[in-house]
Amino acid sequence: MEDRVKLAPSILSADFARLGEQVAEVTRAGADYIHIDVMDGHFVPNISIGAPVVASIRPWTGLPLDVHLMIERPDRYISDFAASGADIITVHIETCPDIHGTIETIKDKGLRAGVSLNPATPLSSIEEGLPYVDLVLIMSVNPGFGGQAFIPETLPRVTQLREILDRRGFAAEIEVDGGITSSNAGDVVKAGARVLVAGSSIFRGKTGITRGLRELREAVS
Ligand code: DX5
Ligand code: ZN
Repeated sequence: MEDRVKLAPSILSADFARLGEQVAEVTRAGADYIHIDVMDGHFVPNISIGAPVVASIRPWTGLPLDVHLMIERPDRYISDFAASGADIITVHIETCPDIHGTIETIKDKGLRAGVSLNPATPLSSIEEGLPYVDLVLIMSVNPGFGGQAFIPETLPRVTQLREILDRRGFAAEIEVDGGITSSNAGDVVKAGARVLVAGSSIFRGKTGITRGLRELREAVS
């Protein structure tokens, strides 16, 4: 049986003053992961949230907290995010000169380890890490902000990564992040993704959070 597609609402587009309630709402509506975007103002131009916010969210959901670190030298913060209740920690390959060491640090904490690539970073840059990661996060926008348009050249990259993983028998999940809506979600899944991150289309849609998530679910079912 083919795995059910997982939906990972990105809280970057939530109302931060009502974060707990909105995390509970997406949980009730059928989300699979809660995606948490951490930005440092260096690797990406924006600053978002840190480990204390992750700890505040933790009691509001039983779902895995999927922490996406868009920060320089992420090794410095892995302990903090592990202690705050993260389940998955994803680092950017562009920030990790020793990806094996970083993956090991995450796994030593008992967490799942992910590696992410910006749209302009070649897939070959993560090839050596593929046997060791639980998740590969392909960016479909340049990271830093919610609400950007999906970059269509992402689709052939997802297809190519799917082929590499299948051919080599690696179990890493392919997650895609940025500009996902109910109009393009089906294509992203067809290309081979199994986890879809969505911020604006869930938290900022006209129909509300629950409907936004359900529309996305229908689009991939
Ligand atoms: C972008 C973040 C994304 C973002 C997705 O830097 O990594 O997770 O919040 O938001 P949308 O779905 O609005 O593109
Ligand atoms: Zn993200």
